[in-house]
Amino acid sequence: MPGYFRKNIAVMEGYLPGERPQNGDAIKLNTNENPYPPSPRVLSALRKAATPSLRLYPEPLSDSLRSAAAHAYGVRPQNVLVGNGSDELLSILVRCFVGVGDRVVYPLPTYTLYDTLVTIQDGKKVAVPYAPDFSLPEALYSQEAALTFVCNPNSPSGTLVPLDEIERLARSVPGVLVVDEAYVDFAEGDRRSAIPLIQTFSNLVVLRSFSKSFSLAGMRIGLACATEEIITGMIKVKDSYNLNRLSLVAATAALQDMPWMARNVGRIQRGRKQLSRGLKRLGLQVYPSQANFVMARRARTF
Ligand SMILES: Cc1ncc(COP(=O)(O)O)c(C=O)c1O
Repeated sequence: MPGYFRKNIAVMEGYLPGERPQNGDAIKLNTNENPYPPSPRVLSALRKAATPSLRLYPEPLSDSLRSAAAHAYGVRPQNVLVGNGSDELLSILVRCFVGVGDRVVYPLPTYTLYDTLVTIQDGKKVAVPYAPDFSLPEALYSQEAALTFVCNPNSPSGTLVPLDEIERLARSVPGVLVVDEAYVDFAEGDRRSAIPLIQTFSNLVVLRSFSKSFSLAGMRIGLACATEEIITGMIKVKDSYNLNRLSLVAATAALQDMPWMARNVGRIQRGRKQLSRGLKRLGLQVYPSQANFVMARRARTF
């Protein structure tokens, strides 16, 4: 590797995206995509938007989508930032809050991109092992972190920690707490999302993705919800035109067809139950999944 790179970049591995099968018959799900198509309303809105207006830049702050998302999630538009996938928002957050050597804490195993982003930023990674039942480890609460990540439901375990634990964590950490809710639409029961907690905790950022429940991984759309102060700071760091015109239209149309998303989520929840039952019957230990995937292992550890 030529010596031009910063040392941490020269020695790092780089994030490895999910494998892409070359066989055209495969149903690709290994990046936890949705097997069902996006809403027909999204496809029709995209067809209508494919016009010569594409010569123009998109709205810099995606204001129309911010308003639609704010309405859908019960917050104000100033509490929402739209990203080119929630991955972009994760990257913005690390750039906003992590200086060289600053501590970034997350329970392990979890979404591997957190590790990569902190390496790029030259922060200090502090990975705390999850408890065997995937409840939040007690050590997470006392880490003096600049940034703490909790993926909820977690990937790869699919497990969900209750909001009471998220509240306790938000209260305990001195820095910013990011709750990554890429899979939360697949969870059952009420009080699953931490979005309402942004009214109480000035250090809380909640991320959503349109890649999973809305079947729009190919369009790259994510949302961050937080206080106006945090969103205003994040805007300074993002690219000027971070969401393209078509993605903006697709996401807005997806939010206008919640029943489509809910129907597909229902099908996936039923499939998840069936798969979990079948794996248990085969003698595997199956973790209680609230996501669109199931983790199982051969050895019994709890
Ligand atoms: C936990 C988690 N967060 C974020 C993402 C990225 O989502 P997006 O497609 O919105 O960038 C993924 C994608 O697999 C994920 O598993």
